[in-house]
Amino acid sequence: MPNTILVGAQWGDEGKGKIIDFLTDEADIVVRSQGGNNAGHTIVIGGEKYVLHLIPSGILRRSKTCVIGNGVVIDPVSLVGEIDGLLARGIKVGKNLLISDAAHLVLPYHRSLDELREVQKGTKKIGTTKRGIGPAYADKASRTGLRMADLMRPEVFTAKLTQRVKENNEILKSHGLAPLNGKKILQDYLAAGEKLRPFVTNTVIFLHRALELKQSLLFEGAQGTFLDIDHGTYPFVTSSNTTAGGASTGSGVPPHRIDSVLGVMKAYTTRVGEGPFATEDQGLSDTLHAMGREYGATTGRARRCGWFDAVSTRYSTMVNGIDKIAITNLDGLDGVETIHICVAYRLDGKVIDFPPTDSDDLARCEPVYIELPGWLKGTEKARKFSELPPKARTYVKKISELTGAKLSIVSIGPGRAQTIRL
Ligand code: GDP
Ligand code: IMO
Ligand code: MG
Repeated sequence: MPNTILVGAQWGDEGKGKIIDFLTDEADIVVRSQGGNNAGHTIVIGGEKYVLHLIPSGILRRSKTCVIGNGVVIDPVSLVGEIDGLLARGIKVGKNLLISDAAHLVLPYHRSLDELREVQKGTKKIGTTKRGIGPAYADKASRTGLRMADLMRPEVFTAKLTQRVKENNEILKSHGLAPLNGKKILQDYLAAGEKLRPFVTNTVIFLHRALELKQSLLFEGAQGTFLDIDHGTYPFVTSSNTTAGGASTGSGVPPHRIDSVLGVMKAYTTRVGEGPFATEDQGLSDTLHAMGREYGATTGRARRCGWFDAVSTRYSTMVNGIDKIAITNLDGLDGVETIHICVAYRLDGKVIDFPPTDSDDLARCEPVYIELPGWLKGTEKARKFSELPPKARTYVKKISELTGAKLSIVSIGPGRAQTIRL
């Protein structure tokens, strides 16, 4: 398999975990390079459901190696919980997991600040996952962050953490909030650090050795293109580069070693949290929720749903350099009589074919739709492209044509077998 970056082409939850698990069969190493435990990647194997937050979805295949790269922000206590949860279910987590010593840590004061800032924003809140992701990346950029390498040196960690807890407690107190217990944090984090010690290493060196050995790398993007700190619907975004470039900076693997970028697109669109969403449709949301679908894997929140937006996904294809697409959740549209695809936006009387930079402008955009007839048949049993109803084939081909990327995978259910390779 060529070295491949898998990115979410919409607002996250495109089904990246499922596609990663499917493709890991052909890769040697799966790498996470950004985000943190705000991610929730669902994999269903033989009816068993696994939700991964920090550990790459490749962990479910025994012989593969998983890397948490330098660009990820790690909550060590949460990561230990995730490892223990997998071990309890008989999943091997040992030499097959490597954690970058340069990855930044998410600390309890990041979570407190995440929550505080959301409250302060009131009706303008972002709707974050409250996992402390924004404040952790802010500390990284402010050069006041603590890294995995610090946690591996208890004395250094103790001194740095004590100072940072003191500084952050001042902020919390100034907002009338209770200060955090530094001693307890130290105890919890040092204990988690000892559990993580066997996994922590210089993953850049590891990945370059793997490249020399011609091993193939699969980068597991978290979140999605329009949650990117630079290219997303700012400020309603996460705090990392979720686009393809983030895979290089977040792993130390240079761009010229990447051969392909696979964009994962849901056959419709979903978004969790606040922010503009041109094709949002209450009727489609109600239909999907009534089917028990589209509830967040991390926070359990109901996802907002809408029609496929070819304006934004075309932009995604451009920004990420997507050469192949995987269309997921096609079966979600099985019962829909008339399907809409947004092909342009109308903004202040003008028709535009790209998403405006400003979120207020995007919020004022009205979608221009084309309509396609639904296939009104179950697709979940199809195993070949030719077994899909003709109208479903027309629909996915239209998406490929409008976004300008080659159709590579169609997913028609959460399980491994419910995947059609083209
Ligand atoms: P991720 O964050 O991109 O990995 O996606 P999530 O796991 O948050 O959300 C995707 C949801 O859709 C999960 O519940 C998956 O099990 C499910 N899923 C993925 N692909 C398909 C599909 O083709 N059909 C159906 N019915 N469910 C799917
Ligand atoms: P996966 O990897 C969907 C959203 C939050 C919020 C915004 C900022 O499962 O696709 P944050 O906690 O990151 O500061 O929240 O980003 N968000 C996601 N939405 N899928 C995700 O991850 C997300 N991770 C963050 O809902 O709108
Ligand atoms: Mg998810």
